[in-house]
Amino acid sequence: MRIFDTTLRDGEQTPGVSLTCSEKIEIAEALNELGVDAIEAGFPITSEGEAESVREIARSIAEIKSVSRAEICALARSNFKDIDIAVDSGVDSIHVFIATSPLHREYKLKMSKEDVLRRAVEAVEYAKSRGVIVEFSAEDATRTELDFLIQVFKAVEEAGADRVDIPDTVGVMTPVAMKYLVSRVVSELRIPVSVHCHNDFGLAVANSLAAVEAGAQQAHVTVNGLGERAGNASLEQFVASLHYLYGVKTRIDLTKLREVSELVEKLTGIQVPPNYPIVGDNAFSHESGIHVHGVLEHPGTYEPLMPEAVGMRRRIVLGKHTGRHAVEDAVRKLGYDARGEEIEEIMRRVKDYGDRGIKVTEKLFGRIVAEVIGGREG
Ligand code: KIV
Ligand code: ZN
Repeated sequence: MRIFDTTLRDGEQTPGVSLTCSEKIEIAEALNELGVDAIEAGFPITSEGEAESVREIARSIAEIKSVSRAEICALARSNFKDIDIAVDSGVDSIHVFIATSPLHREYKLKMSKEDVLRRAVEAVEYAKSRGVIVEFSAEDATRTELDFLIQVFKAVEEAGADRVDIPDTVGVMTPVAMKYLVSRVVSELRIPVSVHCHNDFGLAVANSLAAVEAGAQQAHVTVNGLGERAGNASLEQFVASLHYLYGVKTRIDLTKLREVSELVEKLTGIQVPPNYPIVGDNAFSHESGIHVHGVLEHPGTYEPLMPEAVGMRRRIVLGKHTGRHAVEDAVRKLGYDARGEEIEEIMRRVKDYGDRGIKVTEKLFGRIVAEVIGGREG
């Protein structure tokens, strides 16, 4: 299964996000280390700065001598100017797209089906003539008439495309519908099929996984699920699900997931919510007494995978839901040996702070323990 990362292109289209050239290079290098198969470095026609970033990313990744380095890709609309600028950036592949749905044909492109088909074929032929790998996307594919979508894909395959991609541009698919659509497209083509799922209804990862079930060989993802509007399929969630729930291998080094997520969070300024799966702060945090007791006896009771496997650490949080086992464990970690009644008193104080809405930080907990144990008689 190929992982095509578009953090630096669709991810950077997140409203309010704009990365400098050196920030983009830093992220590209981290993605390469993480093991993604392709990095969509940007959309060079957008601006001179964007074109320069794509050139610099292509140059810096090409310097890496490893045979398994990521393919560097640039986005281009289906016209010769976009394609030339993209190819001249020194990338390995071009991601060429044109919208195919009735809504986009009529209101955005003002083109007939025949015009769209002709333009797609010409673009792919031209990009191929420039000696790069070509991936073709039918923008808004999931709202396109199925027979027309297949006609376009077959025509670009004939024109030399190396892969086709099915974008769910406004995230309207369900897993069942995605599985059907992808299996139809896969059965009509010889080249690999990819998907690009947006998260407008929160289904991007589920739809990407359904596409894999139907034979897709690649998915577009972004770190922290960044992207237009509600974002794209999250790299962390998709890859971890593939690995742990489907038994499908990728080249991703899962232990680096948190580190890359943190880097992208820092450079984009878009915070990962605490309850974000896999790499959110709370993904392996436990507070309630029953859960803490469980994980202290056996982590599998309330954790579906080991936190270290995805670069995370287990956290026991103290608050009003805290039970005796958590307090005993935390006191022991501070190097104290507390008596039964002392544990009870520490727990009572922790719950009291929790009830008053006060966060029991490590510092505050240390103070509580010192007060209770320090006040021992004899
Ligand atoms: O969502 C989309 O359709 C896109 C295209 C450029 C592939 O990002
Ligand atoms: Zn997109």
